[in-house]
Amino acid sequence: MEKAILLPKDKEVGKRICEEDIGIYSRIALDTGVFNLWEIDTLKEILNDYLHNPLTSYSIFEEKNIDVVEGFIIFGRTPLTKFTWDIYWLVVAKEFQNKGLGKKLINRVENFVLEIMPKAVLRIETSADDKYRVARHLYLKCGFKEIGRIPDFYADANDLIIYSKEIDIWQYKGGNV
Ligand SMILES: CC(C)(COP(=O)(O)OP(=O)(O)OC[C@H]1O[C@@H](n2cnc3c(N)ncnc32)[C@H](O)[C@@H]1OP(=O)(O)O)[C@@H](O)C(=O)NCCC(=O)NCCS
Repeated sequence: MEKAILLPKDKEVGKRICEEDIGIYSRIALDTGVFNLWEIDTLKEILNDYLHNPLTSYSIFEEKNIDVVEGFIIFGRTPLTKFTWDIYWLVVAKEFQNKGLGKKLINRVENFVLEIMPKAVLRIETSADDKYRVARHLYLKCGFKEIGRIPDFYADANDLIIYSKEIDIWQYKGGNV
């Protein structure tokens, strides 16, 4: 099997975060009203790994207006794959939602990935819960396809939904596939 490309944090152009950002990002995510406290704890673990582990496979982009963080996306290479990436977290602060920032953050990831490799597969997993209706709509609008479900994964009648999208530099026209 060909070796997967791993990108140490210092080779990436993603956002550098500090201790204070962990609180800011967690607060933004909590205030959306979508995530529970266990999910916020998981977010903090990921951010701590990103901050303290030099070999972390996570990358972060944020949208910021002057000093105000409006949204962020956490993504990274999927281990043991040749050109696959996972988008783990996508959050736009409640007061800045529905202004195109979610779409913009996904486009930034796609552009970034295609600067590193000519083609890639992106994967996003989410829940069938109504709280994630806007997210599911966004993924489909961004060209992701639902490619699988695990029934009752999170709870009764709350499936895990898997979305994926193949991108390549030959089709990609600056973020508007
Ligand atoms: C999901 C989320 C990231 C979308 O970000 P966003 O910046 O609001 O989305 P955009 O403005 O780029 O809009 C993308 C699409 O969703 C639609 N949309 C956005 N907010 C909406 C709302 N409240 N109700 C209905 N549609 C909405 C937009 O109209 C657009 O669709 P269109 O192109 O058909 O018009 C944001 O709502 C969010 O952070 N939600 C809470 C956290 C979450 O669910 N994250 C995803 C976890 S899997």
